[in-house]
Amino acid sequence: MSALSLSTPILRIKALNLHFDEGRIKALNGVDLDVREGEFVSIAGPSGSGKSSLLNVIGTLDAPTSGELVFRDQPYSKIGDASLFRRENIGFIFQAFYLIPTLSALDNVIVPTIGCDGTADEYKAHAEALLTQLGLRDRLHHFPGKLSGGERQRVAIARSLINRPRMILADEPTGSLDSANAAQVLDILTGIVKEQGLTLIMVTHDATVSARSDRIIRMRDGKIEQGASA
Ligand SMILES: Nc1ncnc2c1ncn2[C@@H]1O[C@H](COP(=O)(O)OP(=O)(O)OP(=O)(O)O)[C@@H](O)[C@H]1O
Ligand SMILES: [Mg+2]
Repeated sequence: MSALSLSTPILRIKALNLHFDEGRIKALNGVDLDVREGEFVSIAGPSGSGKSSLLNVIGTLDAPTSGELVFRDQPYSKIGDASLFRRENIGFIFQAFYLIPTLSALDNVIVPTIGCDGTADEYKAHAEALLTQLGLRDRLHHFPGKLSGGERQRVAIARSLINRPRMILADEPTGSLDSANAAQVLDILTGIVKEQGLTLIMVTHDATVSARSDRIIRMRDGKIEQGASA
């Protein structure tokens, strides 16, 4: 048995439902899932099967219709301030990057620290260190419009890490990149995740990406397909 399989769950999900349109749309329809601390889980499945919905509920961006979620020992139902919970525990990476076009790479990375207790100098130094680690030492003051897609996504990865989250949620992070940039972004991301023992849940259509994960989950019609995980 590997060290990973012995470790405790960071996330427990039971009987999770997310319905829209008075129940006519069941984006999530009875999802059960445990994710272990330090695990890299990839999520596959056809368009509309509920992959983004699941990440959004895990990330507290959407409130479930019903079901139980527990992060470490904290039930989501007991989270008082969802934005504080997100800021402290979760990093997000999206296909479309969502960088702020009027801010430099450095300032984009610092944005999630707004309202946190540290000093501006501390955050700036940490953001510079992350961008340097991501190979962007000479792009700190570039605006997103002057960066390539791969560089933008590396800025977004630095932003997801700035508050030292324990869990990263990535929704098709390489979906907008060509294969060379996708491979590079993925190498960097998985390298950092492994080095820091972070938990990574990644939606991806790319079989070469999911092949590198610890476990592949396949979704269909708002459910996790049974017997399909590797
Ligand atoms: N806010 C919403 N209101 C109504 N229906 C929604 C909403 N969000 C998602 N849905 C529906 O829920 C289902 C699941 O959507 P979701 O975005 O989770 O799919 P997905 O697996 O991420 O698909 P894709 O691979 O295309 O990104 C879809 O049928 C979608 O149309
Ligand atoms: Mg999606």
